Amino acid sequence: MAKVVVFDHPLIQHKLSYIRDEKTGTKEFRELVDEVGMLMAYEVTRDLELADVEIQTPVTKMTAKRLAGKKVAVVPILRAGLGMTDGVLKMIPAARVGHIGLYRDPKTLQPVEYFAKLPQDIEERDFIVVDPMLATGGSAIEAINSLKKRGATKIRFMCLIAAPEGVKLLQEAHPDVDIYIAALDEMLNDHGYIVPGLGDAGDRLFGTK
Ligand code: PRP
Ligand code: URA
Repeated sequence: MAKVVVFDHPLIQHKLSYIRDEKTGTKEFRELVDEVGMLMAYEVTRDLELADVEIQTPVTKMTAKRLAGKKVAVVPILRAGLGMTDGVLKMIPAARVGHIGLYRDPKTLQPVEYFAKLPQDIEERDFIVVDPMLATGGSAIEAINSLKKRGATKIRFMCLIAAPEGVKLLQEAHPDVDIYIAALDEMLNDHGYIVPGLGDAGDRLFGTK
């Protein structure tokens, strides 16, 4: 079974308290989600492979480490995943970006795919799927199904807030996918919203309703 990492870093918890706060407006919400995405990228990439390279410093030759192995692709689940993408790209500027568009049918809560555009060299890439919310788990499971169907083999999932129900279902559906969560909340309400959560991530990011 892949790992589930829940972040307890003070900076992340501090920023999350403002992200959750209903008084936080769109501009600040967007900036904070971007910042937390950047901070999380640091841990999510902890096990990327390194390779030795010979370099010359101004003082001497040395064997240094650079990223090796597969190249990275970040895949936001549209729309709200877009809010975390730039933060991750600040840490991994050479990463490619794929997009998977899914919305939850408000009645059935089932995800419906409406868009998918991914880098061509899928088998060669390490994928980081980003979405602020892991609620029922349906969207994340479907996005990862979509990636695997197209040939992706190494996938990580990162989100801001998760419900225990979503984590369980995602683990069962994709036991090979490591899950990174800034905060694990209590439960889902009858409308499939995370409690206490932050409300509708897409609406808060883009100022829609
Ligand atoms: C939200 C969120 C996730 C999904 C999580 O997207 O960004 O993608 O819900 O819920 P789930 O785990 O129950 O599937 P939404 O469907 O509201 O679309 P949006 O990002 O376009 O607003
Ligand atoms: N999607 C959201 O945007 N918020 C939730 O709480 C659950 C799903």
